[in-house]
Amino acid sequence: MDQMQSARVAETHSAGFAQPFLSDIKTLRERARKHIEDGAVIAAYRADRDTVIKLLNEALATELVCVLRYKRHYFMASGINADAIAAEFLVHANEEQTHADQIAARIVQLKGEPNFSPEGLSLRSHAEYVEGDNLIDMIKENLIAERIAIDSYGEMIHYLGDKDVTTRRMLEGILAMEEEHADDLSSMLEDLREG
Ligand SMILES: [Fe+2]
Ligand SMILES: [Fe+2]
Repeated sequence: MDQMQSARVAETHSAGFAQPFLSDIKTLRERARKHIEDGAVIAAYRADRDTVIKLLNEALATELVCVLRYKRHYFMASGINADAIAAEFLVHANEEQTHADQIAARIVQLKGEPNFSPEGLSLRSHAEYVEGDNLIDMIKENLIAERIAIDSYGEMIHYLGDKDVTTRRMLEGILAMEEEHADDLSSMLEDLREG
């Protein structure tokens, strides 16, 4: 067999074996490409995506209303010389903002759209925007809002179960922080009543 012949034999063999193998690669590539278009939401997503996005948008509204309420209280408490409490309100405001950002990012990962519209914001929110006339009122209103958030996150976590572990874990992290917030506020209230 001369060089040319052996080259042709090799070519024939590789074509013969390569055909089914190449089509496998093609399938794999198509699947990977499809999954890339789907982003993080792969075919195996087991939760009801529309419902999860709706719930997350309500949570987003709740966090945004909490940011606004804590910000209002921060500036008002600063005015009545309650600097330590004002500082705590600001810390909470920033943490609620972080929660809002986490939730918005997850909505986008799920191929939804985060609703930041000011229109109807307080209606979408679970917690209310209450200004409060004095320091004790402010703390109480924040505590009520935190309790509402704790309740609704608990329900969402229960609903998600193992159907969307990523969202559930994110909400568990947020829930833990809302519990800390509620704890902080309870201590503030006790200190003020004792003092
Ligand atoms: Fe929060
Ligand atoms: Fe909170």
